Amino acid sequence: MKKVTVSICTGTTCYLMGGAHLLTINERLDPSTLDSVEFKGAHCLGLCSNESNGKPPFVKVNEHLVSDATLNKVLDAIRKELKEIQHVS
Ligand code: FES
Repeated sequence: MKKVTVSICTGTTCYLMGGAHLLTINERLDPSTLDSVEFKGAHCLGLCSNESNGKPPFVKVNEHLVSDATLNKVLDAIRKELKEIQHVS
């Protein structure tokens, strides 16, 4: 089964800029979708050193970069990706 991969940066900059509370995001998703989502903690994704990437915290949802990530922005990105993989399969 195809999955949505969510890489949450736990590097120091992202963690201090609000990434810490993103680690509870799985509690905000519909439980029926959890089998289709894989969460990963990631050390610095290397994005915080280049302002053109936007502001930390950073989360990658499949290939989609979410900058200045909030729970709602990441949830929206996950739901969008879930729709795409459900549409394809
Ligand atoms: S600490 Fe998150 S991208 Fe560097």
